[in-house]
Amino acid sequence: MKGAAIFLLLLPLVHIHKTHAVELDTISDSQFLTDGDTLVSRTGFFELGVFRPGSSDNRYVGIWYKKIPGTVVWVANRDHPITGASPIVLKIDDQGSLILSNNISTIWSSNLTTPSPKATAKLEDTGNLVVMDQRERIIWQSFDYPTDTLLPGMKLGKDYLRSKEWHLSAWKNNQNPSPGDFTWGADTLGYPENKLKQGPQVTFRGGPWSNQRFSGISAFNSSLTFTYKVVINASEMSFSYNLDDSSILSRTTLNSSGLLESSVWVENGTKWQLALSLPRDICDRYNICSAYASCSINMIQQSCACLDEKRFVPRDQKSWERADWSGGCVRRTPLDCKNGSEGFIKYSNIRLPDTEKTWFNMSMSLEECEAKCLKNCSCMAYANPDTSLQGRGCLLWFDDLFDIRGYSVGNGGQDIFVRMASSELVAESNMKKKGGANIKIILPVAIIGVLLMGLFSTWLLYARRKRNHAKGGKSLHENNEEDIQLPLFSFSTIANATASFSEKNVLGEGGFGPVYKGVLEEGIEIAVKRLSKTSSQGVNEFKNEVICISKLQHRNLVKLLGCCIEGDERLLIYEYMPNKGLDSFIFDVNESMTLDWTQRFNIIKGIARGLLYLHHDSRLRIIHRDLKVSNILLDQDMNPKISDFGIARSFGGNEPQANTHRVVGTYGYMAPEYALDGVFSTKSDVFSFGVLVLEIVSGKKNRGFIHPENDHNLVGHAWNVYNEGRSMELLDESIAESCSPPEVLRSIQVGLLCVQQNAGDRPNMSSVIMMLGGESVLPNPKQPAFFMEKDFLVADFSSSTYPAGSVDDVTITEVDAR
Ligand SMILES: *[C@@H]1O[C@H](CO)[C@@H](O)[C@H](O)[C@H]1NC(C)=O
Ligand SMILES: *[C@@H]1O[C@H](CO)[C@@H](O)[C@H](O)[C@H]1NC(C)=O
Ligand SMILES: *[C@@H]1O[C@H](CO)[C@@H](O)[C@H](O)[C@H]1NC(C)=O
Ligand SMILES: *[C@@H]1O[C@H](CO)[C@@H](O)[C@H](O)[C@H]1NC(C)=O
Ligand SMILES: *[C@@H]1O[C@H](CO)[C@@H](O)[C@H](O)[C@H]1NC(C)=O
Ligand SMILES: *[C@@H]1O[C@H](CO)[C@@H](O)[C@H](O)[C@H]1NC(C)=O
Ligand SMILES: *[C@@H]1O[C@H](CO)[C@@H](O)[C@H](O)[C@H]1NC(C)=O
Ligand SMILES: *[C@@H]1O[C@H](CO)[C@@H](O)[C@H](O)[C@H]1NC(C)=O
Ligand SMILES: *[C@@H]1O[C@H](CO)[C@@H](O)[C@H](O)[C@H]1NC(C)=O
Repeated sequence: MKGAAIFLLLLPLVHIHKTHAVELDTISDSQFLTDGDTLVSRTGFFELGVFRPGSSDNRYVGIWYKKIPGTVVWVANRDHPITGASPIVLKIDDQGSLILSNNISTIWSSNLTTPSPKATAKLEDTGNLVVMDQRERIIWQSFDYPTDTLLPGMKLGKDYLRSKEWHLSAWKNNQNPSPGDFTWGADTLGYPENKLKQGPQVTFRGGPWSNQRFSGISAFNSSLTFTYKVVINASEMSFSYNLDDSSILSRTTLNSSGLLESSVWVENGTKWQLALSLPRDICDRYNICSAYASCSINMIQQSCACLDEKRFVPRDQKSWERADWSGGCVRRTPLDCKNGSEGFIKYSNIRLPDTEKTWFNMSMSLEECEAKCLKNCSCMAYANPDTSLQGRGCLLWFDDLFDIRGYSVGNGGQDIFVRMASSELVAESNMKKKGGANIKIILPVAIIGVLLMGLFSTWLLYARRKRNHAKGGKSLHENNEEDIQLPLFSFSTIANATASFSEKNVLGEGGFGPVYKGVLEEGIEIAVKRLSKTSSQGVNEFKNEVICISKLQHRNLVKLLGCCIEGDERLLIYEYMPNKGLDSFIFDVNESMTLDWTQRFNIIKGIARGLLYLHHDSRLRIIHRDLKVSNILLDQDMNPKISDFGIARSFGGNEPQANTHRVVGTYGYMAPEYALDGVFSTKSDVFSFGVLVLEIVSGKKNRGFIHPENDHNLVGHAWNVYNEGRSMELLDESIAESCSPPEVLRSIQVGLLCVQQNAGDRPNMSSVIMMLGGESVLPNPKQPAFFMEKDFLVADFSSSTYPAGSVDDVTITEVDAR
């Protein structure tokens, strides 16, 4: 401090004085900072001062975490080290520029072009060093000059107003903060995306910017809530991130060997906890598989595969077989745009190709996007780049598609629609997943596809019927000779398939009896529901009901394959769902991570569509009466399918709608008018749907949910936080990172509208679907039913004959309602 004291005499400046109690975060035009002095941000997160990197003798002015010594996040004079021993001076000159000098000359300056007298510099709690003019407008900030560290709130991209770029550049090495080989920044030629470069060479590509994830990558290894922000307008193109909890320190650094790491400092910990590290593996190496091919890694090695092994072939088969992937793949049938009959094939769960040669318009819909692409013969593909925009946004590719990577479901992959010759658009019913890409056919070809599938399934039923005849089985025919036939299985066939209804084949307990897994002789997997023997319904009435149910076909309903009626045995045979029930995902600590927000929102919408079909669109009006999470099954693409529909009706409960003396349902899902008075209607299903939505969003069961501070069940808790404007607190924290807050809030509000006390206030399913999909303002829900589950239980079910203690998620088939 001796040097500083001398300075004080020579310069007309006031050396900043720190008392032990107060640490300064500001220097004004009459103050300066020298070796050993520091500025400390208000709550002590960051500190600015002079440091020496590693064992170097050179000095630099930098910013670091006060509590974590040695973690430099920004360097002022990275290109201009202070050598020698003379003391330094950091001050703000009368033009408003920050000036770093030794006692001889200026070493570094913030070079302000518009002079601004009486400015002050302040170190903010974000780690940003800002210079403000007299009117407190920011005239310079360190966040505009990133070094190797991206902090929350810092931007990557382009600033059009000042024609400059925001990007990270690594240090040369641990001793030298001057820019090294590697940079991480936005390629803004087409739709913006971040690229890692070594010199001019791209080594890794993050994928198109999205408000949903870190530059196209979702694998944030943390339960913390990160939010991402993409700005694309006339003044800037930028990407930034923030942590919802600003008291948690986080950073993204690019080290001198080109590794990009995001990490968080856990207060109690002693080191940074890694959240994301890129590139991850060899498949992340830029364009390793070249055009129209996707990279995968098995146990031993990396390999490339054409995007779709039916429609694409390697450009050079011989080299491809030698694992020389540089030629990439080409379309088997070349495009012939003049013909005018081309279309698109959808590939799912991929990292979208390089966007350098693209065009985009973020206000177009996907339909407009398709039409626009179809019109221009050089347009090779289109996609919705930012999945958080609810289907808005159009991105067109005008080049071959490079650097595609397949992701597993839920890991940040997106859909792309690739242009194909008309002859390639025909559906192939046994097309399987290839190279991580999931193939679906789009209109107008879909219509042909549906027709073909229809023929195929009719044939399947016919074939199975013949087989059953051969085995002595027979088919059910409907009275009016309509061509609807439902295979009738013999009891022995099903007993064989389920190893005589063995305990170990039990999949679960549904509303009307246990469900078993079975495998028919042909190898077809089935789920068998064995109805408990309490129905008084006659054989013919039961048959007719089952035929009616078999006509209910919708992609969000589990498909009934057949039935079996022998003696007093009644079995229903369904398609088998490999992914089991939704409950095994959302209520499971480990599995809940695998269902991200987009999937959950799709599931909510799918259930709504299935229910709408039951309530309004099917020929029969079906009230499910036992809608709950465990009755929602998931197919291999995580599409929801409602099960157990129509059984209440076929199994002796087919009173029109008004009133029943038998209540079928599950605690926690039953509408009050139904549970208390036995009155059921579509609105009691709507109630159960509302509970379902809240459970899917929160990952918690309505029944059994206990809030630490009160007696509310989940519905009551949701109502409370909604009224306090804290609805986001309801969200399952394991999916916080993938979520789209507007969709979450909309879902919660729709859920609350569905569980309103008064059935007449609840929306019908067509309104629900419109509300979920739209952007209109939703009505405010009124108080829900069962605000306190405890009261309800004591008041209404204390006399229930159902054994207490085991009622958790079991359907109660007979409860005296009166
Ligand atoms: C500059 O530094 C030199 C050597 O450290 C010292 O002799 C000289 O007095 C200093 N000049 C000023 C103006 O501080
Ligand atoms: C400021 O301008 C000078 C001269 O134009 C230049 O040498 C120096 O590198 C600039 N400093 C910064 C930090 O841009
Ligand atoms: C662009 O967006 C930024 C951030 O939202 C905003 O501050 C700026 O005013 C916008 N510029 C234009 C031209 O809309
Ligand atoms: C960069 O980070 C990786 C992973 O932490 C490490 O293995 C590598 O040594 C680092 N490189 C340097 C130069 O520190
Ligand atoms: C820090 O860790 C200690 C011991 O593991 C624990 O008692 C304390 O509650 C923790 N503090 C915080 C803030 O997590
Ligand atoms: C994720 O976190 C776990 C535990 O904190 C750690 O073992 C693992 O290496 C991390 N994975 C990545 C990719 O950072
Ligand atoms: C973007 O799309 C919207 C909606 O189709 C349209 O109104 C607008 O003119 C388009 N902008 C450009 C630049 O093409
Ligand atoms: C097709 O798009 C390209 C790239 O945007 C453009 O250069 C070309 O003029 C377009 N062709 C037609 C016929 O619109
Ligand atoms: C256009 O496509 C159709 C359908 O694949 C094909 O039958 C027809 O020959 C094609 N016409 C020309 C001129 O290529």
